[in-house]
Amino acid sequence: MSTLSVRISRKQEEALDIASFELVAADGAALPSFTPGAHIDVHVAGLIRQYSLCNSPEDCGRYLIAVKKEAESRGGSRAMHEDLNEGDLVTIGAPRNNFRLELSAGHTMLLAGGIGVTPMLSMANHLLATGASFELHYFTRSIAHTAFHGLLSSPEFAGKVHFHYALEPERLRASLHKLLWQRPEGGQLYLCGPRPFMDLVEASAAAGWPPETVHLEYFSADPESLAGRSDAFRVRLARSGGDYAVPAGKSIVQALAEQGVTVATACEQGVCGTCLTGVLEGVPDHRDAYLDDDEKRANDKMLPCVSRAKTPVLVLDL
Ligand code: FES
Repeated sequence: MSTLSVRISRKQEEALDIASFELVAADGAALPSFTPGAHIDVHVAGLIRQYSLCNSPEDCGRYLIAVKKEAESRGGSRAMHEDLNEGDLVTIGAPRNNFRLELSAGHTMLLAGGIGVTPMLSMANHLLATGASFELHYFTRSIAHTAFHGLLSSPEFAGKVHFHYALEPERLRASLHKLLWQRPEGGQLYLCGPRPFMDLVEASAAAGWPPETVHLEYFSADPESLAGRSDAFRVRLARSGGDYAVPAGKSIVQALAEQGVTVATACEQGVCGTCLTGVLEGVPDHRDAYLDDDEKRANDKMLPCVSRAKTPVLVLDL
């Protein structure tokens, strides 16, 4: 996977525990272009973490990301906040997009919960720049928790951006019902945020929005799926040979590693695509947040860091 060296040209507090980082090419060259909803891999503290690009693709001389310092951080977000400063060099991957904006939509609804605003900001910037019809609803605990509040309150976003604070579950449900009970002509819905927020939005949209008009960006693969490793199966490796058991409670990547077979990984959460592997026989049980629905239906590739098998044996292109 190709990498780039970038310099942090600006680091700024955007809200409680949220900092933004503006990245420019270390050698002053142009950065690869991207589309709204794209993310980059950031190599930090020996880890690789994915962050959505927040700026508009039209604003092409820089990448802007925002990072929330997670209490449960395994090291990535804490290192971003505490160890990286303006002027530091960072290695990143070129932008990739698993959360594409449908550019021909009659109207675009963007619903963000907390730090889930990051891909929405790029989308909102792009939709504004192209004069498209859209609205952004941004749900946070308070103004103090609202990243990019100043930017999103600027006159050009007036009437398009709506802030929703401290909503109790019942009031949140009522607000979502009001927003989503009827799909506008040609409407497309995008949502990103914590899992309970996403579940609530999906449930609220179920009656009026066909599944193909609802687009979700997960921070990680479904945690229930990650936990639900209760099945055992076998994997055969077509190129290198070998037939290995994958026991309950272990991923394919972990089971192979114990047998001395290394599969390249980065996130180990089914979101980055680093471990993407061809499937030659058998049916995978896709539990990742990387492949789109068509790719999952094709069953010819999988993410073995989280996905499992629906058949007793999988033959992998390894
Ligand atoms: S390592 Fe990131 S998807 Fe598997």
